[in-house]
Amino acid sequence: MAFLFKEWIRDIKLEYDDIKYYLSLINDVGSYDIHYGLWEKKSKGKITNKGFINAQKRLSDLAVLFIQKNSKNIIDVGGGIGGFSNNIKQLGYFTVCIVPDKKLINIGRKIFPSIKFIHGSAEFFKLQYKFDTAILFESLQYFTDKRLGLYNISKYIKNGGRIIILDEFSESDLGDVMNNKILINFLCRNGFNLLENINLTDEVLPTCDFIINYSLNRSEKMTNLWDNKRKDYLNKTLTYRLLVFNKVY
Ligand SMILES: C[S@@+](CC[C@H](N)C(=O)[O-])C[C@H]1O[C@@H](n2cnc3c(N)ncnc32)[C@H](O)[C@@H]1O
Repeated sequence: MAFLFKEWIRDIKLEYDDIKYYLSLINDVGSYDIHYGLWEKKSKGKITNKGFINAQKRLSDLAVLFIQKNSKNIIDVGGGIGGFSNNIKQLGYFTVCIVPDKKLINIGRKIFPSIKFIHGSAEFFKLQYKFDTAILFESLQYFTDKRLGLYNISKYIKNGGRIIILDEFSESDLGDVMNNKILINFLCRNGFNLLENINLTDEVLPTCDFIINYSLNRSEKMTNLWDNKRKDYLNKTLTYRLLVFNKVY
């Protein structure tokens, strides 16, 4: 069985340049979250390291609000180096952090030795029991096969449990689950009801400015990437959303 699992993970893209870059950025600013931030409206013009860390915390805190009160165990699928898993563990939840990139796991295990990391992918992980909640915090966009990943995750959610997704969605691509309407349709056909679909784009947007500033003398590739992303956010072809689904069957 272990051999088969290794075979499967070989089909999964394990490393991404933008994640590697984000990792060095958070290392420089002193954060453990490989995700965007939710900036206060008054933060305009004050795009500092501290502001970025606070914004990341605000986004994590918002996600936590959607965990059901009776939820006990949570799978953090694509949990990076375990920053969010560690937050929710401190709140008393049991969490399993599934990550396909061994390098991220190795970093995470050093920083958060008590977090349970599993080397695996959304598409092929196997666990012995079901969970109350799955969180996909800016990981869905990286899944090699998004529908297979969502389908596999859904098998591990208890009836009455929840999937919480934070990610960016294309408003135009009508063939991919990274269009929120397609995602909603897919999950609603697979046993879920949509509870929330919150567009956070305006409050997430300053993250682009922060990373463009950070990248200016470091990486032309990343400066351009984040500049294009910023344009897409501004012209609303790309949106940042928090989506919450309840499992009904
Ligand atoms: C942008 S990082 C987000 C990390 C973390 N959720 C956070 O908020 O700090 C994207 C994560 O998705 C993971 N990922 C990429 N492909 C994946 C897959 N097929 N299955 C599960 N996770 C995947 C990456 O390894 C990484 O941990």
